[in-house]
Amino acid sequence: MESPEHKPVLLHETLDLLNLSPGKNVIDGTLGLGGHSLEILKRIGKTGYLLAFEQDERNLKEAKKRLKDYSKQVIFAHRNFEDLKAVIDEEKFPAPDAILLDLGLSSPHVDDPERGFSFKFDGPLDMRFDPALI
Ligand SMILES: C[S@@+](CC[C@H](N)C(=O)[O-])C[C@H]1O[C@@H](n2cnc3c(N)ncnc32)[C@H](O)[C@@H]1O
Repeated sequence: MESPEHKPVLLHETLDLLNLSPGKNVIDGTLGLGGHSLEILKRIGKTGYLLAFEQDERNLKEAKKRLKDYSKQVIFAHRNFEDLKAVIDEEKFPAPDAILLDLGLSSPHVDDPERGFSFKFDGPLDMRFDPALI
């Protein structure tokens, strides 16, 4: 199946504001399909680390594929970013130099009527980012 597309919003403007350089440690609280994270990883080089949160398992799977060349530098957390402090402690992640939260939903959420987010198609009013959660 073809990978879903999501064009990261204000990619370069956002990344410039994070002021990244090689060796920085960054948290992406809303990984989505990994567009912002890919650019973060390019900027932090081989000595930086990324901790990435994503509640939606399908998006997480796609992002892992997109970021596979950087897998040794990324910790993927299938968690709500509200658990940020707990996950930093569990993973012994260093003090972050930057945190990105790109809040909201992603294109696959809108494209799939079953997820209940779509304004294009009728569907059940679900709207859970992690459908496994009650
Ligand atoms: C706007 S998209 C992010 C797009 C991403 N920056 C990219 O470049 O692909 C927001 C993502 O955050 C996820 N999300 C929303 N609330 C979350 C939360 N509280 N914790 C973790 N992930 C969350 C959604 O499932 C969605 O994939």
